[in-house]
Amino acid sequence: MVKMSWNPAAYLEFAAYRARPAEDLIARLDVKVPGGIVDLGCGPGNLTAKLKQRWPSRAVTGFDASPEMLAKARASVAADITWQQGYIAAWLPGAQAALVFANAALHWVPDHAGLFPRLMHAVAPGGLLAVQMPMTGEALYHQCLQRVLDAPRWRTRLQGVHSHAPRLAAAVYYDLLAPLASAMDIWETHYHHVLASRAAVTAWVAGTALLPYTEMLNDAETQDFFADYTSVATTAFPPRTDGKVLFNMKRIFILAERA
Ligand SMILES: C[S@@+](CC[C@H](N)C(=O)[O-])C[C@H]1O[C@@H](n2cnc3c(N)ncnc32)[C@H](O)[C@@H]1O
Repeated sequence: MVKMSWNPAAYLEFAAYRARPAEDLIARLDVKVPGGIVDLGCGPGNLTAKLKQRWPSRAVTGFDASPEMLAKARASVAADITWQQGYIAAWLPGAQAALVFANAALHWVPDHAGLFPRLMHAVAPGGLLAVQMPMTGEALYHQCLQRVLDAPRWRTRLQGVHSHAPRLAAAVYYDLLAPLASAMDIWETHYHHVLASRAAVTAWVAGTALLPYTEMLNDAETQDFFADYTSVATTAFPPRTDGKVLFNMKRIFILAERA
């Protein structure tokens, strides 16, 4: 279990880009059975609000481990949503849901072989499990992180710190869910987000993937860590003709209907 302090403002700096895959996922959802909606790892609640907007008559719950994120959600989302704090690995649904939704959250939770079938059991027959996760292991920004972590200073200082849980292959998620599913739709999309500069790449990852590491560092070390990251990113993300940078990220989408 990764315990860390989230900074909603840093996370929301790229809200439009971060929301894009969630909107692509929500666009595919057809919730046909009665029941509530749960947004696991809801973060600052902006996507939970979109779910409520799309299905206004449903009871919607936003669930997250981070008190900072939930405070932001409570303060900024006016819609009638229940906010709950807890860890996804220990989440116990009150009743089976019509939709269990998890956008950019389950890659923080280990043991996907156990987790995915368990989440599917929380879905009512005919309901949906809808998941989107970044395939960070393959991403250029993650390779940059690995290069920074390989430097002698950080290798020692940050020994044993881990970021995201390993993702499985699409076919493995299929096999895990197939015994509980009446239909499944799995796809991957490669996004090329246009960022203003290499520093923006650091700002993006500082709001998510770097958190488990900066959590262990003091302020001065954190600034050095960011500077090292930007320096590596300078080579990895060459500026385009207009000076901007393409930040690429492959994401997997898993949509399963409960049998
Ligand atoms: C990258 S943010 C995604 C937020 C939102 N779903 C979105 O797409 O904008 C990941 C969120 O997952 C939450 N999270 C990470 N691990 C968790 C866990 N084990 N249990 C509950 N929430 C978790 C974090 O607190 C954070 O708010």
